[in-house]
Amino acid sequence: MTTRRSCAVGTGAYLPERVVTNDELAKRIDTSDEWITSRTGIRQRYIAADGELTSDLGIAAARRALDDASMTGSDIDLLVVATSTPDETFPATATVIQKALGMTRGAAFDVQAVCSGFVYALATADNFIKAGQAETALVVGAETFSRILDWTDRTTCVLFGDGAGAMVLRAEDGAGTTADRGILSTHLHADGRYHDMLYVDGGPSSTGSAGYLRMQGREVFRHGVEKMAAVVEEALEATGLPAEQIDWFIPHQANKRIIDGTSRKLGLGPERVVMTIDRHANTSAASIPLAVAEAAADGRIQAGQLVVLEALGGGLTWGSAILRW
Ligand code: ACO
Repeated sequence: MTTRRSCAVGTGAYLPERVVTNDELAKRIDTSDEWITSRTGIRQRYIAADGELTSDLGIAAARRALDDASMTGSDIDLLVVATSTPDETFPATATVIQKALGMTRGAAFDVQAVCSGFVYALATADNFIKAGQAETALVVGAETFSRILDWTDRTTCVLFGDGAGAMVLRAEDGAGTTADRGILSTHLHADGRYHDMLYVDGGPSSTGSAGYLRMQGREVFRHGVEKMAAVVEEALEATGLPAEQIDWFIPHQANKRIIDGTSRKLGLGPERVVMTIDRHANTSAASIPLAVAEAAADGRIQAGQLVVLEALGGGLTWGSAILRW
């Protein structure tokens, strides 16, 4: 009997041109490179230019992923975009990206799970493929968090950046073992009781304006390490794979200390962890596909290797995915 799997066949990344260093931020607000680096591991972030939209970043990353897969927009029959910073309240940013890619058939929609958005979007696309409702899917994580930051609030504005990453998935048949390539598992969770820990204080139905990000940093930190390690353990148990077999651990890039704490809990050494937080800062739903695309492009991720993704974000939402590359 054969089993249908979603296989990653292309990845792409895009970062805006403008780099803002910690020193540059320290000229505008009461902070320092030393404080930001020691607490978060962040040294710089990329910030979208005026008029450069989430869809522009997503389109650029998607084009690179399609090139990498030797495909065009017309080969795609499902486009899922993870974003919490859409161009407009509606339509979905996915439809703007769809048009630019020349994709005229199938479905295109956004998924909103904040920093867990890419894992949620990947799980959604994987389930469409496994159900036979799509053959080829494009999953994009794209954000312009710089637009929802309160640039006078030093406790939040130093943490985030803009960017986009994309992955092309194609249905392939295999024997259904964990040695086959493709997505082996996805696990998603949410608990709305934690709303106040991380949210944006605006929106079309409440204030009528986009609002600004608000966060209880210490609480997010505590839940981050605990929940991200637990959802990876859940995935390893479900697939019967021991942590020693993980070749690449690619966590959401929120904070180096959260990543270090989670990988320590899982018993993974730093040589198996992909880290971009120092250069990209936290790009929310874009952080995982950006990191995956970087590690695939520079040859770290090799065919047949086991890749584990995990994230936690506003909601709270959290989740993991295991892929055989
Ligand atoms: N520069 C200088 N000082 C600062 C800054 C700053 N940018 N921000 C806060 N401080 C000050 C505070 O005002 C406080 O000063 P006080 O003691 O005089 O009151 C002091 O530093 C300590 O503040 P804390 O908030 O206690 O600092 P903490 O050690 O908890 O670090 C941080 C804050 C980095 C936000 C940490 O809690 C954290 O990493 N939390 C996780 C948050 C996160 O990653 N969120 C991302 C979104 S969620 C996600 O993606 C998973």
